[in-house]
Amino acid sequence: MPLVNMKDMLKHAHENRYAVGAFDLVSLDFLEGIMAAAEEMRAPVILSLAESHFEYYDFELIMHATVAAAKRASVPVAIHLDHGESLESVITGIRLGCNGVMVDASHHPFEENARITKEVADVAHAVGVPVEGELGYVPGVEGEDAEKHPGEIRYTTPEEAARFVEETGVDFLAVSIGTVHGRMKGKPKLDFDRLAEINARLGIPLVIHGGTGLSDEQFRKLIENGVTKINYYTALSDAAARVMYDNAAKQVKGYTALVKGVREAIAEECRRMIRLWGSENRAEEVLQSARPWRNVMHVIEYNVEGLDEEGAAQLRAKGREVLSRIPGVMAVETGVAIQPEDPQYRYVWLVRFCQPEVIAHYRDHPVHVEYADKHFRPVAGNRITIDFELDE
Ligand code: 13P
Repeated sequence: MPLVNMKDMLKHAHENRYAVGAFDLVSLDFLEGIMAAAEEMRAPVILSLAESHFEYYDFELIMHATVAAAKRASVPVAIHLDHGESLESVITGIRLGCNGVMVDASHHPFEENARITKEVADVAHAVGVPVEGELGYVPGVEGEDAEKHPGEIRYTTPEEAARFVEETGVDFLAVSIGTVHGRMKGKPKLDFDRLAEINARLGIPLVIHGGTGLSDEQFRKLIENGVTKINYYTALSDAAARVMYDNAAKQVKGYTALVKGVREAIAEECRRMIRLWGSENRAEEVLQSARPWRNVMHVIEYNVEGLDEEGAAQLRAKGREVLSRIPGVMAVETGVAIQPEDPQYRYVWLVRFCQPEVIAHYRDHPVHVEYADKHFRPVAGNRITIDFELDE
């Protein structure tokens, strides 16, 4: 159940001046370590999956585990697509269970960034999913050395930030005020005056990318100035690697011996940040104030006229193929009644939506309208349709 609406989660953090950790995960060890820390500290948490890491895991498979971890948690959890590269990635992320998405077009000039971000925000908002955009450019790659940073840092200006939020409608804004992704030599210099001005103008949750390597004092000042989501990965990756180097130095044998202790090292680093960022012991308040994130099952039981079994099977196959592409749809399943006696309805659609706002969006979506009007309704006049909000 504690999958919650990310906008509500960050609203609570914004109003109460703390930050929620958005920890990028790349394996089950990361997922389990992050969740263990959040549970122990009674902290809301964001499980984050960065598209730049998709070469290291199967996104679909890891999302099944991530959704399962969120649903069985007793603390509030949101699942976020980090640095989504396109509208397609965002739609896929939502289909697999992300309930917050980032589109990162920050390497483009302002107008292009705003155009791409707005296009994504329009689609995501139509299905009730909050959106993070980035303005200015935070260079670097999560988990890599600073020397490999492609491109120069570009700072966010308060004027452009206000225009960007107005034009795109994003719910959260990632700002560039001096952080970089990955490992840095030396201490980053952050422009807090700039951040304060952006915060005063926008009044929405601000996001910091490149959390690794900042000092405790810098984190405190970020949070004082409106930062409510902190993206954090490289330090977790380095903590995990240190355990593996130690194990390797002891010449342990085999994979499991090599990764032994990794999960705990990740949990320890997460606990440190959760304490520092003030999200410790906030779980209960967030559970009370944030809307639960519940999937909807759109159920249609029906009979067909004028089609044989083969024709009915083709009708279902076509529906599964086209309807599953509609944003907000998580799965399209179909079935045939198994009772030998004549059931009232012979066939069923089970279409899972990520949340209730999808019902209207799906009904009016041109792909659905065309399939329903051309293929389904002409043969399936005898039917009953009900939308169920699912218990978790
Ligand atoms: P670090 O890897 O520098 O912590 O940054 C993580 C990040 O910003 C993910 O989006």
